[in-house]
Amino acid sequence: MTDIIDGKGLAARIRRELTQECADITARRGRPPGLAVVLCGDDPGSATYVRNKAKAATEVGILSEVIRRPATHSQAELLADVDQVNARPDIDAFLVQLPLPAGMDANAVIERIAPEKDGDGIHPLNLGRLMMGVPGPRPCTPQGILALLDYACTELKGARAVVIGRSLIVGKPVALLLQERHATVTMCHSRTTNLADEVARADVVVVAAGKPRLVRGEWIKPGATVIDVGTNRVNDKWVGDVDFDGAIGRAQAITPVPGGVGPMTIAMLLANTVRAASLRHR
Ligand code: GUN
Repeated sequence: MTDIIDGKGLAARIRRELTQECADITARRGRPPGLAVVLCGDDPGSATYVRNKAKAATEVGILSEVIRRPATHSQAELLADVDQVNARPDIDAFLVQLPLPAGMDANAVIERIAPEKDGDGIHPLNLGRLMMGVPGPRPCTPQGILALLDYACTELKGARAVVIGRSLIVGKPVALLLQERHATVTMCHSRTTNLADEVARADVVVVAAGKPRLVRGEWIKPGATVIDVGTNRVNDKWVGDVDFDGAIGRAQAITPVPGGVGPMTIAMLLANTVRAASLRHR
């Protein structure tokens, strides 16, 4: 029997807890935590994600604002937008939705975000803090993945974990969080020579490759826990990076797509926002 890890349900529980914290902060300081999301360009996937983030924020009592900018926006104009949000007293945390339109330097934009307002936890200072193991906002999807693994009662200490994908937002930071929890971590990516063998050794598999059904069911070690970060649109349906049907019956537990990692990413963004507001008010 494979346990389907209910990310949607866990995220709903976390949002209920945040609703209470949000009300407390609002009562204490007379205004709610504020979250801004900067959406530049017209990537259709990004538009959906941003809408979901703003809606979830409003539902827990966070003041949320979407700042929309056209694909023709210049790098200098976007940096000026970031400066403005950094200076706004009503915004406690924000993010610039990625990917940015072609030709823009995402790293320069991320570096411009005030580290204490970094809702995504991807400013170099906060990534450095993650690497050092000192407190700071952590990237949302990796935090959500760790919460899902705990929810599924997955033992991490001494476990062999394989992370597929080395992105700044997911792969690299989740590997650090898994190491912090005493897993032995192997990083795999598009040039890994024998992915099937790496997966076959893993007690925990985290897949964030952006390739539909890259990981086949028969690669998975019986009893492993599988976290599927993929959200690929195939024939008008969302499919993950893991062959879900093939993994059923082999894995101990697996996240569904949709309804697994996605809702947890949003819940952790809200948690980062509430925490930023609470730290600022102290
Ligand atoms: N694009 C896809 N996921 C994310 C995320 O978590 N943060 C940002 N800023 N952009 C994204």
